[in-house]
Amino acid sequence: MDICVVGIGYVGLITAACLAEAGSNVICVDNDSKKIAGLKDGVIPIHEPGLAEMVRHNQKLGRLHFKTDLKSGLDNSLIVFIAVGTPSIPDGSADISAVLSVAAEIGENIKDYRIISTKSTVPVGTHKKIADIITSKTNTQFDYVSNPEFLKEGAAVEDFMRPDRIIIGTTNPAVKEIMRQLYSPFMRKSSRILFMDPASAEMTKYASNVMLATRISFMNELSALCEKLGADIELIRQGIGSDSRIGSAFLFPGVGFGGSCFPKDVRALIHTGSKYGIEMLIAKSVQLVNINQQERFAKRVIDFFKGREDKTVLAVWGMAFKAKTDDVRESPAIYCIKKFLDCKIKIRAYDPEAASTALTALDGKIEIFQNGYDALNGADALVIFTDWQEFRNPDFEVITKKLKKPVIFDGRNLYDPAYVKKQGIEYHCIGRA
Ligand SMILES: NC(=O)c1ccc[n+]([C@@H]2O[C@H](COP(=O)([O-])OP(=O)(O)OC[C@H]3O[C@@H](n4cnc5c(N)ncnc54)[C@H](O)[C@@H]3O)[C@@H](O)[C@H]2O)c1
Repeated sequence: MDICVVGIGYVGLITAACLAEAGSNVICVDNDSKKIAGLKDGVIPIHEPGLAEMVRHNQKLGRLHFKTDLKSGLDNSLIVFIAVGTPSIPDGSADISAVLSVAAEIGENIKDYRIISTKSTVPVGTHKKIADIITSKTNTQFDYVSNPEFLKEGAAVEDFMRPDRIIIGTTNPAVKEIMRQLYSPFMRKSSRILFMDPASAEMTKYASNVMLATRISFMNELSALCEKLGADIELIRQGIGSDSRIGSAFLFPGVGFGGSCFPKDVRALIHTGSKYGIEMLIAKSVQLVNINQQERFAKRVIDFFKGREDKTVLAVWGMAFKAKTDDVRESPAIYCIKKFLDCKIKIRAYDPEAASTALTALDGKIEIFQNGYDALNGADALVIFTDWQEFRNPDFEVITKKLKKPVIFDGRNLYDPAYVKKQGIEYHCIGRA
């Protein structure tokens, strides 16, 4: 099939690469000319396992093209996916101006029948706005499909290739068939396509993210109580996760959730609720608990060095909001490091992939190291923010030797407290006595 994807970020590039891998011809359009020039030269702008190889392979085969000009993508494709960003604006609502500007450009340039599909996460009702904008600019026939994306950064290629489900928001039988055909390579065993109306598809995306964020915030809130009561949140996690009615996913306590989706989608749902007179009490609590969790962790570290903050140096392992990505958008690490810097604490940091994105997010105010152990030299404590695999079984002897005093603050509960204590390390983790 001939496809155009507009907005070549995390969602757009993965969508384009995976569709090309399954045999479609895909034109990728982005208004960031530097990004497009880089992609043409094989420079992959994000870190995502398996992505670089797939992009280069399909580019070589002539199934993946990169352009800044939407018109040529639109002229040569049956389906046009909109995958531009929808960041939060200060009132908490999603900024859909980029989505609407792409819709206007489509309306101005569409010459033949097209299916316009949104992958961006957009508030319920955006489908009407997009259709209205296009209709106001053209008499050319088109259909609209809401097709929210559920991939997880760090496992995005795998998620796209083997999705739990695909949500297709359209009531048009002919469009359903085309979309079924497009996604058929990704559901060889059984169809996991759910058809629904566009409004329900848009809402499903928010409901899904806010539900997952709720589970994390619930565990984080419990972890605070566990610390007071001497209970162990890890045992509780296993205890409740083994209940088949609850399941074990998204129950890991930590330093709070981040990334480009959960925080903004929680805010957007709260905003939509208030716009329609429904106070989203659960979403509001999820948000509050998440802020508190980051605040509590930062305070715990700062309080430990009270009165000597300006003489304190912290080694930091991990700044990405989660493992296997270089994304630091709304990362709890960035939130906490900013608090440390405000107190004049110095930071020696290491992240396997997110060093450069973090350095930009922190205005160059931290020192970056190419190796986790080098970051430890002469630091007063090690603070862990991201659950990268390589942090899971470190050489504790080296850590002890390199730190001024052996102290670890672990925002991800990576280690067994008893074992770490046995290595002579003072260990602070989340919700464990
Ligand atoms: N990142 C995720 O894990 C994820 C998962 C599911 C859904 N989503 C949703 O998908 C959407 C995209 O997210 P992302 O993380 O890929 O964003 P991103 O910021 O990584 O990428 C957006 C891209 O769109 C481009 N762009 C902006 N305006 C444009 C325009 N007018 N014309 C052409 N290109 C334009 C930008 O240059 C950028 O490359 C968001 O709505 C997000 O909520 C993201």
